[in-house]
Amino acid sequence: MFDFDQPLDRRLPDAYKWAVGVDELPMWVADMDFATAPSVKDALVERALHGAFGYSDVPDAWRGSVVSWWSRRHGLTLDPGELVFSTGVVAVLSSAVRALTNVHENVLVQPPVYNVFWNSVVNNGRHVVESPLLFDGARWSVDWDDLERKLADPQTSLMIVCNPHNPTGTIWSADELARIGELCERYGVVVVSDEIHCELTRPGMSHVPFAAASDTCRRISVTAASPSKAFNLAGLQSAYFFAADARLRHRVERQLNTDECAEPNSFAIAGAMAAYDEGEAWLDELREYLQRNKDEVERFLSERALGIRMCPSDATYLCWLDCRGVTHDDERLCQRLRETTGLVLSPGSQYGDAGRGFLRMNVGTRRELVRDGLDRLSRGILSFS
Ligand SMILES: Cc1ncc(COP(=O)(O)O)c(C=O)c1O
Repeated sequence: MFDFDQPLDRRLPDAYKWAVGVDELPMWVADMDFATAPSVKDALVERALHGAFGYSDVPDAWRGSVVSWWSRRHGLTLDPGELVFSTGVVAVLSSAVRALTNVHENVLVQPPVYNVFWNSVVNNGRHVVESPLLFDGARWSVDWDDLERKLADPQTSLMIVCNPHNPTGTIWSADELARIGELCERYGVVVVSDEIHCELTRPGMSHVPFAAASDTCRRISVTAASPSKAFNLAGLQSAYFFAADARLRHRVERQLNTDECAEPNSFAIAGAMAAYDEGEAWLDELREYLQRNKDEVERFLSERALGIRMCPSDATYLCWLDCRGVTHDDERLCQRLRETTGLVLSPGSQYGDAGRGFLRMNVGTRRELVRDGLDRLSRGILSFS
């Protein structure tokens, strides 16, 4: 019903992802090349045509849309009062770090993981403590002994969970999340669960919200989310967090306010409501399309035997490519791919040392460009070898 093969020229002067050379193909930052859902586009046009763009408020109707979405899509019952609007998920992370930890305390992350987690911690004068994930060739998993040892350090006060996980595309199980919650509670560590990728799961699969994994998880956590990844609305600056514990919520909300990240622009509410109220059919077709893109990458790499394989993944439109059969120097490989073929990928070590030897390829684009990207990748690897 929706045409995801339709070309869309994204080379606008302000397009961050597409600020590359004319012959280059950007498959890096997590931003898709599709126009958003028609319902969202219509709602934004209507809002623009209204013509007045004074200060905006967060209406109860927005709370209703978000609550209904989480109930329908993720089986999680939220109280509308638990929801707090934010201009971004990273804004929630940074404000939570400031509100819930002290200077020089440790914030635990699980690399390879979204690089901006480091910024939210380090820019606020806190330390990152890493508990790297383990990879057995089929699935990424938690190193439980290492995690417990680092959570037990009294200097560790916060853990950021990425659920589903960027860049590996791992969907954490309820048991894994409950075990994380149990350990965090034992050592007095608060959890911020970043669930921005939760809509983009393999068709037929869904993620488990951290807050749904156990009563403990619900009590000790703050969850940050947004329609921005699923509906390609990152530039709209429309996100939110929820926390069942009133004190926890209050502290993060106060900090978001102090950081001036708590007020929507004139389009943020209309866009989010149109996505959640009317974008479901579009999203489900998008997920099918993205899965076919990922399947194509996996098939191509296994047929061509280039020494690269795609790590199995159940979420996100990001392919996490294990290039260690070619080189462990992902930065040099990335640089060479760009120089020789114009393909722009993200080097794995950007996501921590645990990402060394990997590349991240964004396939949130039309199939024609995925094929172009694979062709460039194949030529680049052959010339690198
Ligand atoms: C895990 C994760 N969190 C947060 C963000 C960015 O969120 P926002 O643009 O709402 O700050 C991204 C973007 O790629 C992401 O992958």
